[in-house]
Amino acid sequence: MKTNNTEQLTLKNLKALPISRGSVILNKEKFIQILVEISILQDLTSLKNRIIALKDIITNQKNDKEGILNIDVNGDTVSLRRDVLTSELNQILESQTLERAKYYLNRLKVSIQKVKTNKINDINLLRWKEHDEIITDSLWILDKRDTSGAHLGWYWGNFIPQIPHQMMLRYTKKGEWVLDTFVGSGTTLIECRRLGRNGIGIELNQEVAQKAKELIEKEQNEYNVVSEVIVGDSRTINIKQILNKYGMDKVQLLIMHPPYHDIIKFSKDERDLSNAKNTEEFLKMFGAVVDNATSYLEKGRYFALIIGDKYSKGEWIPLGFYCMNEVLKRGYLLKSIIVKNFEETRGKRNQKELWRYRALVGGFYIFKHEYIMLFKKRGK
Ligand SMILES: C[S@@+](CC[C@H](N)C(=O)[O-])C[C@H]1O[C@@H](n2cnc3c(N)ncnc32)[C@H](O)[C@@H]1O
Repeated sequence: MKTNNTEQLTLKNLKALPISRGSVILNKEKFIQILVEISILQDLTSLKNRIIALKDIITNQKNDKEGILNIDVNGDTVSLRRDVLTSELNQILESQTLERAKYYLNRLKVSIQKVKTNKINDINLLRWKEHDEIITDSLWILDKRDTSGAHLGWYWGNFIPQIPHQMMLRYTKKGEWVLDTFVGSGTTLIECRRLGRNGIGIELNQEVAQKAKELIEKEQNEYNVVSEVIVGDSRTINIKQILNKYGMDKVQLLIMHPPYHDIIKFSKDERDLSNAKNTEEFLKMFGAVVDNATSYLEKGRYFALIIGDKYSKGEWIPLGFYCMNEVLKRGYLLKSIIVKNFEETRGKRNQKELWRYRALVGGFYIFKHEYIMLFKKRGK
């Protein structure tokens, strides 16, 4: 039997090994069986020795006398993030008492045996540490846009794909339905395809919608989901009819990324929110879109509004908060206000010095952020 010293040394050596962020695929039945066997042990040293051996197998993929790496075609497997599993095993090794070690061991066992998700996403809460791509803070500093696949970022006034990506992971399950009422270049729908969500997008500008459709089709449709872009005015379009076509009457996530009033003029069409004559009219038009879409959002589900403020005639116009109020007036529950950094557009970058000078003279701050406002539809 190994002495305590040897154990310390081995533990140290193993900890020094580089941890790959990949996944390990294990024979589920064997792995659980071993965890049960270890949890029956009655002294801490023996328990830790078995964990050290287990960690060795997982880290080095050899000395697998236990057979946990034997993947039987007909057997159940479990795929675990190597770094998370290693840290869980380390936690057991660092336990000072047998009771604590068994507690962590049991937690690991349960997280492999069971999947616990809530009603609105596929996040396995028992293995929540493996979901570190999901942002949970309200301040997002994202310096790189995802330009992979069909995400070309060609459309002036689009949002970065990470926004719908995060929203869908957090607020939808695979196979559910997402409605974007200002779909523009189709960012949301491209992301829908990647994540296996059905997506309906509405866009006023025919040309933009056509280009969006072509781009979306370039994205693989691995999960065979619906991606439909419809040309129309989101204030009045018949959403019921669109959904009924697919035998649906509700969506599970609503995304709205309206024009930030007239900061970018998207068209000359008077139905376009960017052509609203003033802030009041803009808010009225925005409210009409919310009214038109709300009945088709399932109760208890989320609505993500992406909006920025504007600066006009020496005054900061808090468009974001005005729009938030429009939504709240309609009975939604406010869940979060996320502040996200603004990507610098090429034009702005060249004028950086000029803007700094203007800000110093004019007594204002330069916009560097926009909002993602999250609402929940009340009821169950
Ligand atoms: C801020 S952009 C959305 C960009 C989109 N998130 C993307 O990533 O490409 C706003 C879009 O709303 C569209 N729009 C404006 N008024 C509309 C209306 N009444 N109905 C539908 N779409 C409208 C504009 O043509 C523009 O493409």
